[in-house]
Amino acid sequence: MTYREPWSKKHKRVTANTPFNLSNSFAEPLTSDELIRLSLERGDKDIVEQYQHHILTYTPNGGSLDLREEIAGLYGPAIGPENIVVFPGAQVALQTAANAIVDENCHSIVFTPAYQSVQQAPLHAGSEITKIRLDPESGWQIDPDQVEAAIKPNTKYMVFNEPFNPAGTLMSHKSQACLKDIAEKNGIYILSDEVYRLLEHDEKDRLPAMADFYDKGISAVTLSKPWGGCGITIGWLAMQDLDLKQKIIDTMYFATACPSRASEIQAIMTLRASDYILERNLKIIRHNVALLDQFVEKYREFFEWVRPVAGAIAYMKFKGPLSSEELGEQLAEHGISIKPAYVFSDEKLYTDYFRIGYGEAIMPKALDALIRFVEDHQKEWRSQLS
Ligand SMILES: Cc1ncc(COP(=O)(O)O)c(C=O)c1O
Repeated sequence: MTYREPWSKKHKRVTANTPFNLSNSFAEPLTSDELIRLSLERGDKDIVEQYQHHILTYTPNGGSLDLREEIAGLYGPAIGPENIVVFPGAQVALQTAANAIVDENCHSIVFTPAYQSVQQAPLHAGSEITKIRLDPESGWQIDPDQVEAAIKPNTKYMVFNEPFNPAGTLMSHKSQACLKDIAEKNGIYILSDEVYRLLEHDEKDRLPAMADFYDKGISAVTLSKPWGGCGITIGWLAMQDLDLKQKIIDTMYFATACPSRASEIQAIMTLRASDYILERNLKIIRHNVALLDQFVEKYREFFEWVRPVAGAIAYMKFKGPLSSEELGEQLAEHGISIKPAYVFSDEKLYTDYFRIGYGEAIMPKALDALIRFVEDHQKEWRSQLS
């Protein structure tokens, strides 16, 4: 893999000192104390003792059985503990899967805008890529006809992200089925980055996990997002294809020996408390989306969005006289962070768009700071636009 600069590097530099965070994409962060309290409250003393007394040897390649059993509980009958590979976070899972599946003789299909690793991991693995542009006019939806038209004889891999970062939108069941049919007909693996799955604002909108849905499907998941456990650094891939699973474990061998046992135990604690944590986090998210609804309505002269239906993120259009990059720089000077369009594409695409995050309980304070900024600048924007 040749050196490539992370698109978020500049954003991190610009927002180094911003107390009002509207750029995080995770749900309310967990604390270690909370995990222990929740475990003891449900009488799970054993897991707390394991956490305090576990031996610091290597864990098995691909993750320990007790964690993989817990993860398998999130899927249907096609996925058992033997179908799961545990990683230190989803980022490394995305790159490892690409390295295991494609090389310089292969072609992959990806989508933009998107999280950089989702769209670039196959490129980093040496694959030729076709990047399909998504747009707000179609609600950021993937058009299966465009996918079909992009297929080449050596297309082996397709990677998308549902629910979709940066917009918090979801594809329809029909599109998911269409994409699976296209992939099946052409022998293509689908990796669906599902790191925001389980955070559908209305549970009825939830799509089947790709690992359950397609025998060449792979679901990528992390504790970082729905459960707010970024610091646990545990993610996983789920898949039915056991030959592929072995290739992925072999590929991971060259990147990391194993996940930390302390992290694995914290992951088990988190998943056992999943119902409580997800319900609490969705309550915060629904509350914050309602505030953003009011914001978009009140300042519709300057902001519009495809309303998000999942995750803790939305992609907003700024209709004022600044690009999202310039807006981001001005906001940072006022202590507010957002994620401009350049974080999600290396093309000059949708330069008016920025991502806003709303997963945390303190988000309303940051939104108040944004509202103050808008109130202070709207006159000036109006005069520049006229
Ligand atoms: C779409 C998407 N995939 C993967 C990741 C990486 O997750 P992790 O924190 O587990 O490395 C992120 C993190 O922001 C993400 O937004």
